[in-house]
Amino acid sequence: EKDIFVLGIETSCDETAAAIVKNGREIIANVVASQMESHQRFGGVVPEIASRHHVEQITLVLEETMRRANMDVNELDAIAVTEGPGLVGALLIGVNAAKALAFAHRIPLVGVHHIAGHIYANRLVQEMKFPLLALVVSGGHTELVYMKEHGMFEVIGETRDDAAGEAYDKVARALQLPYPGGPHIDRLAKEGKPIIDLPRAWLEEGSYDFSFSGLKSAVINTLHNAKQRGETLRPEDMAASFQASVVEVLVEKTMQAAAHYGVKQILLAGGVAANEGLRTQLREQMKRLPEVELVIPPLSLCTDNAAMIAAAGTVLLQQGKRASMALNANPSLLL
Ligand code: KG4
Ligand code: ZN
Repeated sequence: EKDIFVLGIETSCDETAAAIVKNGREIIANVVASQMESHQRFGGVVPEIASRHHVEQITLVLEETMRRANMDVNELDAIAVTEGPGLVGALLIGVNAAKALAFAHRIPLVGVHHIAGHIYANRLVQEMKFPLLALVVSGGHTELVYMKEHGMFEVIGETRDDAAGEAYDKVARALQLPYPGGPHIDRLAKEGKPIIDLPRAWLEEGSYDFSFSGLKSAVINTLHNAKQRGETLRPEDMAASFQASVVEVLVEKTMQAAAHYGVKQILLAGGVAANEGLRTQLREQMKRLPEVELVIPPLSLCTDNAAMIAAAGTVLLQQGKRASMALNANPSLLL
């Protein structure tokens, strides 16, 4: 059979990314231009700045991707682009670049949900075995997604307030750590002990939903109260205690859902999947489900990239799910 080459484009947040993936599984080229430094001094992503950077970077990133792949645009079987969710002004840059290329070269266009992309990052390391469960944890999302087959996503649990990554970033800010705070807390946690008492939001019996805003407030209150009493809490211990609470709930709910749904695989996805504590705890707890395979992508594929969009786009293309030239950015697109 003929090989399928798909160009992926991702501009939903603060990375301008393009990649070419062969047969949905093999990375031919993968380029990510990060804007992190431009947003750092604001302590978060500034939408207007993000859009401007994407405009400046998108052509360069696309050219660099084609150069590294040593391919011509006309050799592509499809162009897959993140259509949502994300920042609308940021998404629009990728969507319009994809439409322009697809129109000019008469190449099929595919719209991809950002979270579907994060999940399909796993297929770049390991073939999917259905049914499976994906734990998607990023700056904007915390979701447990059940998949019976390719392209079928059922959200069985999600956060009711803050996303896990968002909680990491807010707690990091309270500890006066730089943005994005996730990696800093992860690093500090290794040097501390989880001795500070913090809540765990289990919610109702049998619910796979999450909640992290109460935990975030508890951290801020604990820090505030300690300061008032003139006590000093070791930031390492606070980081370790916060991380223990987040990881315990994420891992336990994932284990329960995996057992309940009888899945063959658990996939980890999103920026928080880079968390060392989460990876370790998940690997440890997998002993409870010896028949289930755990897949964790390398760090570079956990954070935003376009190879994951190309991987998801390839499956959609094969299922005949093509987008028209009317494709538009949708900041609140549902999975
Ligand atoms: O998937 P991603 O790159 O962008 C979104 O789609 O949101 O995720 C970014 C999030 C940030 O909140 C960042 O703090 C968090 O992932 N993150 C981490 C770690 N590395 C990145 N959180 C905890 N531990 C880490 N090692
Ligand atoms: Zn993401």
